[in-house]
Amino acid sequence: ETVTWEADAAEKGGYEHYMRKEIHEQPESLRQTIAGRLDVDAGDADLDTSFPPGFLADLEEIQIVACGTSNYAGRYAAQLFEDLSGVRATVETASEYEFGAGRSADRTLVVAVTQSGETADTLGAIRRANAAGARTFAVTNTLGSTVTREVDDTAFIRAGPEIGVAATKTFASQVATLAMLAVAIGRERGALAAADARPVLEGLRDLPGAVQQVLDNEDAVREAATEYGDSEAFFFVGRQLGVPVALEGALKLKEISYDHAEGFAAGELKHGPLALVTPETPVLAVLTEGGRADETMNNVTEAQTRGAPAIGCVSAGDKYATLDVSLPVPDVGVVEPLVANVYLQLFAYHVANDKGRSIDKPRNLAKSVTVE
Ligand code: G6P
Repeated sequence: ETVTWEADAAEKGGYEHYMRKEIHEQPESLRQTIAGRLDVDAGDADLDTSFPPGFLADLEEIQIVACGTSNYAGRYAAQLFEDLSGVRATVETASEYEFGAGRSADRTLVVAVTQSGETADTLGAIRRANAAGARTFAVTNTLGSTVTREVDDTAFIRAGPEIGVAATKTFASQVATLAMLAVAIGRERGALAAADARPVLEGLRDLPGAVQQVLDNEDAVREAATEYGDSEAFFFVGRQLGVPVALEGALKLKEISYDHAEGFAAGELKHGPLALVTPETPVLAVLTEGGRADETMNNVTEAQTRGAPAIGCVSAGDKYATLDVSLPVPDVGVVEPLVANVYLQLFAYHVANDKGRSIDKPRNLAKSVTVE
């Protein structure tokens, strides 16, 4: 009994839960993700991809297929693919995926984002894409996983093993890997100048340190969790790159605290959710670069007018004095929303921990879902 307990505590490295350990591992896991893959001076990223000659030049669409947290990483990446690779990018819920009319298979790249590489819905989507004749690509954490055997190319996210059912460090490494892929494709297609790639690469290079600064500020988000954790429901909002982070923030909170949480594009607040806003529904907002912070803040103010407390993850230097809680995000450009996400992970963790929830193994959920 004692031996088991000690082994367990040792594996968690002194943390009470794997989830908090994995949140805190992100500076290191992100360092692994980017190691040897960034060339800031040349303005390029290298994921060791091997697209056939001419394939990228003719590429018409990147379709991302994924589930759960990986789907939100895909939504973040789709915006980067459009901005950096100059290719239309769409994100499909893997369980709903059909190749669809009006596309040409040999000009479409289908990218599966799957931490485990074993999610049945995502494998099903990849099989449909293969059957349609599209080129397929996997972004995964797991060497030798099923998905790697079904696709044409794979990029590993190198996040290391993740035990907590709620995905944390794998989300960060998925987005970072996909951002490098977006740069690599953009550069190879001639759609992205080195000078325009460089700020993105610098942001990626500085990402581990920026995440560390957020972790060093854990007390602030722990206090916010204690103050607002007993609310009726939680709304997470953002714009642009802040949207997938809002969706992910809400998912994290509902998974481990069992509280009602919803994420959506901030502009949609007034088209419905505002009817639910009360002093008992805190609004958590991504107010960073890449997320149209000023417009998002206008929406947050609309919720505050109805009494909602507001917690914002705010780019360094930007001040929104009316926020109830302001959590600073270091200046790392388009990956700032990804850094803000670490605050939302910690918020979910501390709300759930205050309630004594089964954080590493939430009820009814599995780490990897191998049925469709
Ligand atoms: C399950 C897990 C989620 C994960 C999703 C997709 O629902 O609980 O954390 O995001 O599967 O998993 P994958 O391995 O495909 O990334």
